[in-house]
Amino acid sequence: LNIVVLISGTGSNLRALLEASADAEFPARVVAVGADREADGLAHAEAFGIPSFIVPYSSFASREEWGEALLEQIQVWSPGLVVLSGLMRLLPRSVVDALAPHLINTHPAYLPEFPGAHGVRDALAAGATQTGASIIVVDNGVDQGPIIVQERVPVLPGDTEHELHERIKPVERRLLVQTVLDIANGLDLASL
Ligand code: GRF
Repeated sequence: LNIVVLISGTGSNLRALLEASADAEFPARVVAVGADREADGLAHAEAFGIPSFIVPYSSFASREEWGEALLEQIQVWSPGLVVLSGLMRLLPRSVVDALAPHLINTHPAYLPEFPGAHGVRDALAAGATQTGASIIVVDNGVDQGPIIVQERVPVLPGDTEHELHERIKPVERRLLVQTVLDIANGLDLASL
């Protein structure tokens, strides 16, 4: 199973996929990493000798034009799965429609609780005593797609956004690697 991973940030989830993918027994390969900006996480692709590409959001007149350019880059690799792992952009409909359902996203909350770009902050602001991590199939909603797997993560008194996010990320990483393994072993995303 050839995978393209799209990031915007530090790429800690990407790194977990790269480490799993480096194991010859793992039935999936990260073949390329893409970003919408000069993401720090691209250094992980470099470290693992995996090609990467940047389609800078700021270089395009519209989300749609950016999306078309991004899709072109993705399709160079003919991936069986595209993983959004900290991509902080909404994909235009044309891209989702071209890739779905072979398009998954990892989100640092227990969806449908706290969707959107600030799921960790929102959980804290709501005074939640637990939140979670979720892996979903991407559709044209915002974090509304079918949930593949999710797991609760406790919120501790006095948690900062960073501390809570750092507690969530290891759970995300484990769920993401397991989900990719399940997909490589036949999990049918179209059936969800
Ligand atoms: C992850 O928690 C992801 O779910 C969210 O942003 C974070 C990205 O972290 N969308 P990293 O770039 O993988 O370290």
